[in-house]
Amino acid sequence: MKRILIKELKDHIGEEVTISGWVDVRRDMGKLIFIDLRDESLSKVQSVILPNQKEAGAVAQAIRNEWVIEIGGQVNKRPEKMIKSEVENGDIEVEVKSVKILNEANTPPFDVTTDGKDLNEEIRLKYKYLDLRRDRMQKNIRFRHELISFVRNYLSSRDFFEIETPILTKSTPEGARDYVVPSRLYNGKFYALPQSPQQYKQLLMSAGFGKYFQIARCFRDEDTRGDRQPEFTQMDLEMSFVEQEDVMSLIETLLIETVKKVSPDKKFQQVPFPRIKYVDAMSKYGTDRPDIRENKEDKDTLAFCWIVDFPFFEKDKNGGWTFTHNPFSKPKPEHMDMLMGKENIGEILTTQYDIVLNGFEIGGGSIRNHNSKALMKVFEIMGYEEARVRENFGHMLTALESGTPPHGGIAWGLDRLIMLLRNEDSIREVMAFPKTGEGRDLMMESPSEIEEGQLNELGIKIDVKKL
Ligand code: AMO
Repeated sequence: MKRILIKELKDHIGEEVTISGWVDVRRDMGKLIFIDLRDESLSKVQSVILPNQKEAGAVAQAIRNEWVIEIGGQVNKRPEKMIKSEVENGDIEVEVKSVKILNEANTPPFDVTTDGKDLNEEIRLKYKYLDLRRDRMQKNIRFRHELISFVRNYLSSRDFFEIETPILTKSTPEGARDYVVPSRLYNGKFYALPQSPQQYKQLLMSAGFGKYFQIARCFRDEDTRGDRQPEFTQMDLEMSFVEQEDVMSLIETLLIETVKKVSPDKKFQQVPFPRIKYVDAMSKYGTDRPDIRENKEDKDTLAFCWIVDFPFFEKDKNGGWTFTHNPFSKPKPEHMDMLMGKENIGEILTTQYDIVLNGFEIGGGSIRNHNSKALMKVFEIMGYEEARVRENFGHMLTALESGTPPHGGIAWGLDRLIMLLRNEDSIREVMAFPKTGEGRDLMMESPSEIEEGQLNELGIKIDVKKL
């Protein structure tokens, strides 16, 4: 008989059906055995094995939680006094005619029928495939899919192209520490994993794609915490022939439409999103990612704001200048002269815009410097020798010199946005296979050592082992 999903059972009252899934709970009451079955429709139903079903009863004796089984039986309405209106499918029951064991399961290391919040996180991460069975995690990961699908469709229908960019790329001084990958064919040389697709997306503008986006994986070897992972996902976007206002208004509309669609219970504190200058944010809130919620108790309020007018440069620890956000950003138009003249460097403001939600920076972007001479000035101010700039960023400079249109964009930290919309405390709760705070994958046990032969091929000798 064709399998049906548990969520569809209500449409089959009085009929014989086949359902399959995981044993949520089994209760042996002597004469009667009850099995609550759960399937991928995230629904549950109670099934009952009556004493006259000898064969099914014998099979059911052995069954334990999390076993995968198939049940054939009749969908009955429960008698009035047995109805449990507070539980899903509390008004129906499956009267079992046959039970088939599809796979047994070891006793799980933890209960997957709770929200798991009281469990030690390490054990959850070690058995992530089991942890993901719990309702809360299923809903978080499915929500993530819905949000991403909505954004994809929204942008695709507005002439954006989703274009993949390389994962094996080049190490350049861009902010965080790179993850590097040794090359076998060129011993002693390394690829780097991208911290973001920043340079590639700009090169796509040079290539004439006009509007690009990508649900992009990014890698940064930095200390992790609740809202930071060594690999995370950006909704990365870039557009040609735009100014700051164009990107900000598109993104603001997209955020509003996305939330309305996937989290209709959330309320916006203020629309349009307030725009706060960096200096004002610092003097009023002491941070450039302020939590401007009027009532911080209400989990369903979303207080978005933009932070703008960041300084382009700040002093580094050696007393020189470094960029605050992105070396490829353009200064505000009225500050271009200061950049070209390398004057009043501390006063130059950038076109950078950050989007902040309830105290978390969920995205940031800018209009880019599409003029190679202006970009060169940025590197000069930071004290880079021309040879070093050419070595690291020569491809960017030559691309800018090959007819690159004005362009700008943004990237959202998708994990953070999803975390906030799901009222979770950590981005680990909205990622299928996150790493620990120390960057370890406890399930796969990575990072791990590699074989001597692999090291030899790569021309690598391990000198000092830091543990
Ligand atoms: P930025 O470095 O600000 O900008 O990154 C964009 C957004 O990504 C999120 N984010 C992270 N999320 C989880 N774990 C991390 N380790 C992590 N690091 C950053 C944040 C952040 O706002 N190329 C530019 C974007 C652009 O200018 O278009 C960039 O990467 O939410």
